Amino acid sequence: MSSSNAIGVFDSGLGGLSAVKEFLHVLPAEKIVYFGDTGRVPYGTRSRETICKYALQDADFLLGHHVKMIVAACGTVSSVAGDLLREKLPVPYTGVVNPTCFTAVQKTKNGKIGVIGTAATVGSHSYKLRLQKLDPTVQVFEQACPLFVPLVENGIIRRDDQITRLVVRRYMAELKENGVDTVILGCTHFPLLREAISDYMGEDVTLVDSGFETANYAAKVLREQNLLNTDTSAKMPSFFVSDTPEGFENVAGLFLGRDMEHTVTQIDIEQF
Ligand code: DGL
Repeated sequence: MSSSNAIGVFDSGLGGLSAVKEFLHVLPAEKIVYFGDTGRVPYGTRSRETICKYALQDADFLLGHHVKMIVAACGTVSSVAGDLLREKLPVPYTGVVNPTCFTAVQKTKNGKIGVIGTAATVGSHSYKLRLQKLDPTVQVFEQACPLFVPLVENGIIRRDDQITRLVVRRYMAELKENGVDTVILGCTHFPLLREAISDYMGEDVTLVDSGFETANYAAKVLREQNLLNTDTSAKMPSFFVSDTPEGFENVAGLFLGRDMEHTVTQIDIEQF
């Protein structure tokens, strides 16, 4: 495996772009190959079997691009299929749960941490178990927020949008009542709603975003394994999706702050 190979990043759809944004910042010399499974999103409402099957197909597609590391930029995959991927993949793997939990226990002052994610993620209690292993004294409050994913996939993310505000209030009210001072955005779609969530929770509540933590963790792994790219020129990422690229290009362009028109390729994930 050569250090000049790309890092493969995948998610069920647009959410993993919140991680890509941080990867481009933290590791500008790395080539990123991104796959968003927009034809089969959401993953978070599906069974363990289906999520594992999809995750292995997504990883196989990326391995075809000779990636040197695979990142599941998806809370659902990391929670449900993380062990399977770690065991099966021939290259280093990371999900988003471990790096994020580590930061959350450091940030909390009152020991009350909220975790928001998809139904599958919250049902697995992956974040809660990890947090309590890192610090058995923390209190963890979990909340599934399934409607956040279609809001993001449809670009309904503005902090002043009535629908966004209403859904945020509906999901976040109990965490607010419980007095959490730190909230893990346990689904990579959720950082796209960060402003609306922060408006509701208040600026004293720290929102922990998996993208930044995961990019830093990936950098550490690549450094330890002598796999950091030695050619330091900035690289353009490649984007692949399993449904039509147009909708993805629009929201991705908004989010990454660049024109994405005609830069995304559609593939047939069922071939993998
Ligand atoms: N972005 C994903 C996550 O982190 C998945 C959302 C979904 O497909 O339900 O959980």
